[in-house]
Amino acid sequence: MNVLETACRRAIAYRLSIGNRKVRPERSYAQMRLDFAEPLPENGSPDEAVIKQLADLGEAGLMQVVHPGFFGWVMGASSPVSVAADWLVSAWGQNAAMHHSSPTAAAVEETAAGWLTEILDLPRESAVGFVSGGTLASFTALAAARGELLRRIGWDCEAFGLFGAPPIHVFVGEDVHTSVLSSLRYLGFGAQRLIRVETDDQGRMRGEDLARSCASVCGQKLIIAQAGQINTGAFDPFLQLAEIAREVGAWLHVDGAFGLWARADPQLRAMTEGVEMADSWVVDGHKWLQVPFDSGYAIVRDAAALQSSMATRASYLPTQDMNDRVPSYLVPELSRRARGLPTWAALKSLGRAGVVRMVRRHCDLARQIAHDLGSVAGIRVMNDVVLNQIILRFGEDSDSVEARKSLATAVIDLLVDEGQIYVGGALWRGEWVMRISVISADITEKDAKAASQAIVSAWARISASLSEDERSTGLSGR
Ligand SMILES: Cc1ncc(COP(=O)(O)O)c(C=O)c1O
Repeated sequence: MNVLETACRRAIAYRLSIGNRKVRPERSYAQMRLDFAEPLPENGSPDEAVIKQLADLGEAGLMQVVHPGFFGWVMGASSPVSVAADWLVSAWGQNAAMHHSSPTAAAVEETAAGWLTEILDLPRESAVGFVSGGTLASFTALAAARGELLRRIGWDCEAFGLFGAPPIHVFVGEDVHTSVLSSLRYLGFGAQRLIRVETDDQGRMRGEDLARSCASVCGQKLIIAQAGQINTGAFDPFLQLAEIAREVGAWLHVDGAFGLWARADPQLRAMTEGVEMADSWVVDGHKWLQVPFDSGYAIVRDAAALQSSMATRASYLPTQDMNDRVPSYLVPELSRRARGLPTWAALKSLGRAGVVRMVRRHCDLARQIAHDLGSVAGIRVMNDVVLNQIILRFGEDSDSVEARKSLATAVIDLLVDEGQIYVGGALWRGEWVMRISVISADITEKDAKAASQAIVSAWARISASLSEDERSTGLSGR
């Protein structure tokens, strides 16, 4: 058992060393491949030596996602309490498939499911499936949607699949998250036959265009909205979309992987108004709730529809009462780690008030960063900072789009290399922008100020390095 203590010691030492590390990995993927490349060992090694080698070699290739200077993608910071619960999950070796295989896992998951619908204020009768993340949560909820929409017109999708089935028209906003497209693909909807709905300058679906598109086709309809656009953090107009969905008898699904947490906060809640009228929702634990990775929730109002699409039965599996909450009847997997436990621990530790404080603080800090940077010559905040996402353009109107892309890339590369913070880039409305996602659990006002200063300093150096010629020729040489 010393091996568990070794792992625990190394994990704690790593977390304590975070402030002294660069945010980016010290060593690249190419270097790490070489470090780990070795033939399959013919003979084993002592357990402690194995873990020591993994930690000694592995730490150099870690992205410091738990660092308060990490602003990349949209990733939570694996809070200590939920990591500790996750350690128990692994050490206990429980399979969360059934009540019989782990009464503890089933019971804790059930409580956590109730807490989730309560804190997000979604219909309490909804079923919650604990899956590996937002992509699988969309897959799971949309499988329920597919089955139910076809069942309503007399087609048993679970029995006969999609071969010869009546069509379902799927509506997505132009700025839908790519993971939704993946889940639709896995479900046989096909990426090319989706109906794209126009969005506004923040990426919000235009209700009028959705209504028009819905009126242009006959048959069953599935509308996919989002709470928290990946770049801008914007929310779709749910009241309007829900009304359209009701009128045309559509299933309304909401991808709220990170943004739906705003609903917990009375000050931010207005942006989510009407979202409760949807039929299914996706939220991640491994984003704003700070649960370690492998944590997403598929929340479906019609629990029976979810069970019909997911339940697994076999003679060797104990019969379970459909009136009880059977964990594996709500997710694609049978065997599964007890994902509910870290979520339970995070919610128990934070409480409703702790979640609200954290989400609000992150949004306040995002506004502060946007405010600090928005007044700097040559930097433009490209979104309305309504949540925790900021996107920045670098360069002047007189520079070409290509030149501005070069500038943004140079600033991002410099910042990443220096390692005080980590930020990424993305294409937004034809413009290459820096993305800043404020989501790290422990980030303070001081960290946010330091991040703004780092960006200003990097921008000053990049812009000073341009010659007059480069500037006037649109930086074409860059
Ligand atoms: C809005 C949104 N939806 C879905 C996802 C996919 O979630 P996951 O990476 O947990 O599969 C993400 C991930 O960043 C996201 O931001």
